[in-house]
Amino acid sequence: MTDELLNHPGAPTGDVRPTASYTLRVNGVERPVTDAWIGESLLYVLRERLGLAGAKDGCEQGECGACSIQVDGQLVNGCLVPAALAADSEIGTVEGLAGAGGAGGVQQALADSGAVQCGYCAPGLAMAVHDLLQRNHRPGEVEARQALCGNLCRCTGYRGALAAVQAVADAREAALEAELAAAEQAPKAAPAAEPAPAEQAAELPLYADSELWHEADQLIPAQPQGETPRTGGYAYPPTPPHGTPVPPDWQREPAAATDPFGTAVHQDAGAYDGTVYATEGHGPDGYAADGYGTPYTGYDATPAHGIRLPEDENA
Ligand code: FES
Ligand code: FES
Repeated sequence: MTDELLNHPGAPTGDVRPTASYTLRVNGVERPVTDAWIGESLLYVLRERLGLAGAKDGCEQGECGACSIQVDGQLVNGCLVPAALAADSEIGTVEGLAGAGGAGGVQQALADSGAVQCGYCAPGLAMAVHDLLQRNHRPGEVEARQALCGNLCRCTGYRGALAAVQAVADAREAALEAELAAAEQAPKAAPAAEPAPAEQAAELPLYADSELWHEADQLIPAQPQGETPRTGGYAYPPTPPHGTPVPPDWQREPAAATDPFGTAVHQDAGAYDGTVYATEGHGPDGYAADGYGTPYTGYDATPAHGIRLPEDENA
């Protein structure tokens, strides 16, 4: 019991029989309970306030099992559980075992096996059998007796109840086997259609030097070359085919050079200004200053990034 329940506006303060309002969730349905004495049992509230009379009042002291219900999946005697404490729980009663056409499988098995004589213990027995088969799909004789030992039948119909347990277990096992057999005989699902080549290429990772780049080229729309301005004020240059020699006049005399790619400025480093970038100097005799008599070529070191290679190294 929470203070919230005890102190609701309708609860008279100082009353020796405080009341509370709460909602019970019974068989998946929200059932509000208003101004109920907090000492009322769940069995009483179900029967007298909510009209669910399936659970029977046999002893009101937890001896007979006629009031058996499930609270959060646990089989309990409804006569021993204060209803207000079950406000946040899932409650299952014998009414929830009914099938679409009336009696559920367990109830029908009890009837078929002759377990129902006067019928007063039958709802509690049905809940006990249902709870047992939820926990154990194939209970043995001893397990079934242990599970039902809390349900007293004044008409002494226990053999029928035990037979009903085995009948329901057999029926469910047969239904499962039939379902599995049907699933095995069902035609296999057709294999998924092969994705189109374009879809395959789109799903595969692309790596530099991979031939997939060439396939990907077919998937990427052509970009306007030399026309699309970028934020930096220059445009994408068209990419020349591999092996295309760079015109020597464009390298040596950029001011008068003919732009071989149709782009005025297309390198972050700017146009080549003819400067020789070398890390090793050269002597006046035409040899590199490496001490090995290497003829000086003018480009005896790796130029910085963005610097055009000379013609002889680019060929
Ligand atoms: Fe609850 Fe008998 S009425 S056990
Ligand atoms: Fe009568 Fe069980 S059938 S009490």
